[in-house]
Amino acid sequence: METGRFQVNGFEVLAVPVLYDNFVYLVCREDEAVLIDAGEAQPVFQALEENGLRLQKLLITHTHHDHIGGCRAIQDRLGVQSTSPGIESGTFPMLGTVCESISTPGHTGIHKVYHFPELGILFAGDTLINGACGRILDGTAEQLLSSLRKICEMPDETRIFGGHDYLVKNMEFALSVEPDNKDVKARLDLYRTDPASAIFATLAEEKKTNPFLRVDTCGEFADLRERKDCF
Ligand SMILES: [Fe+2]
Repeated sequence: METGRFQVNGFEVLAVPVLYDNFVYLVCREDEAVLIDAGEAQPVFQALEENGLRLQKLLITHTHHDHIGGCRAIQDRLGVQSTSPGIESGTFPMLGTVCESISTPGHTGIHKVYHFPELGILFAGDTLINGACGRILDGTAEQLLSSLRKICEMPDETRIFGGHDYLVKNMEFALSVEPDNKDVKARLDLYRTDPASAIFATLAEEKKTNPFLRVDTCGEFADLRERKDCF
């Protein structure tokens, strides 16, 4: 699993691998940090210690165990509060910048993504996962497509941090849909030399390589998702 480190406007984003193929993320400014998702506690404690960070807050995208399994341990040890995905969508101050919590149901009936517009970064949970979208579990295809369309309205240079590293499998699926898509082949090649840049791509790159962002109708989207479920 790849660890990514991105500098944005005086902030840093650390991608911390947890469990088998999940990522949680620390958004850091000086010695303060906010955590997005908490599938496992120990790697978070380690990343905080190694980087001399104090955790201020925990933001949860959705309540699947691989996104919240470490929540209790982190809250108990560090005394921080979690923001649940059940809260209303809204904009709130965080680390001296702005964080937008946006409702994106579809993978689950209740799901939030966290957008930091001044930093051009989006934490997409299991709504948009490097080159594909999450499975439709207790949401609907209409909901998930409409959530992805909300993300597509953000600026193209927005860098997207999803909940997993599924890049290779997702690009293989994308090639099965569009065998001649050169951008998909290039993203797969990039994974071999610079995996973090391939996984944590910009929205512009997602629009070129993610077949779920390239459909016209909801029927097409639902068919594609079903094909991916069996891929
Ligand atoms: Fe999930």
